[in-house]
Amino acid sequence: MHILITGAAGRLGGKLAALLAESHNVTGIDLPDLDLTDPAAVGHLADLRPDLVIHCAAWTDVDGCARDPDRALTINAFATKHVALACQRLGAPLVHISTNEVFAGDQTRPYLEYDRPNPINPYGYSKWVAEQIVMELLPQHYIVRLSWLLAHGGTNFVQKILARAAEAQPLRVVIDEIAAPTYNDDLVVAIAALIETGQYGIYHLVNEGYTSRWGLARFVLDHAGYADVPIEKIVLAEFPRPSTPPKRAILRNTAAAHLGITLRPWQEAVLDFLQKEGLAM
Ligand SMILES: NC(=O)c1ccc[n+]([C@@H]2O[C@H](COP(=O)([O-])OP(=O)(O)OC[C@H]3O[C@@H](n4cnc5c(N)ncnc54)[C@H](OP(=O)(O)O)[C@@H]3O)[C@@H](O)[C@H]2O)c1
Repeated sequence: MHILITGAAGRLGGKLAALLAESHNVTGIDLPDLDLTDPAAVGHLADLRPDLVIHCAAWTDVDGCARDPDRALTINAFATKHVALACQRLGAPLVHISTNEVFAGDQTRPYLEYDRPNPINPYGYSKWVAEQIVMELLPQHYIVRLSWLLAHGGTNFVQKILARAAEAQPLRVVIDEIAAPTYNDDLVVAIAALIETGQYGIYHLVNEGYTSRWGLARFVLDHAGYADVPIEKIVLAEFPRPSTPPKRAILRNTAAAHLGITLRPWQEAVLDFLQKEGLAM
């Protein structure tokens, strides 16, 4: 199969391209070569005649999106429309990557795939608009939602916490933002399995279980040789930032699990991440 991946220089797109290239013909695209907000440029993607498109590109800076909601819509929603229209013309299915931030995070139980989104910040809104565009334009879609992506390379929450501990900086982490970590290495395997099924629909591909930001930071420090380093518990209200994170946007995988596609518990995945980084003690 010829698979076109957008955002191929990003965390998820890069890892996915590497894995899928083992068994498929993969073309990766990203900035600066191709700007997906340019409809004419995206129209030319049809010339590549992919059998499937995986749309990982997005503006993932949630605080940036809160400062400039129009730009968030342009990149996250309307660029997705251009990609979906190209797929429509080709008759190619689209895997659209989305987020737990499409949910308000105000219910106690985890969100299932067909629960009603109700985003509370501009990033979540732009991604929810994108989901609706994909659903309206293209029956052959997989919408894959994830949360708290943990990827090798670049900087993420885990690496920031460890860096502060290493520098003996005080640590204050929120206890009331709760979600499921998603280990990139597990996610790409699950997406590779999903695209073989032909079972279009909405999927929550996250590691099993959930925790708070504080709980994740505590787990990481305990397993990286910093068990004696304290972390002050704070609440989101004490940590003002441009974007308002949903408090309990906990995703639960039921649809993919029904197809036999599951991700291991988050604790095992985070430990594996630390081991591969040479950080586990
Ligand atoms: N990271 C998370 O915790 C998380 C959580 C939930 C969902 N997601 C979703 O997962 C997907 C992948 O996330 P990620 O963390 O892998 O993102 P990432 O590392 O930020 O990669 C996104 C890629 O898209 C590119 N891009 C941005 N604007 C573009 C445009 N106009 N045209 C073409 N390419 C453009 C970016 O290029 P530049 O770097 O040059 O801007 C970047 O290479 C996204 O859809 C995101 O919304 C991520």
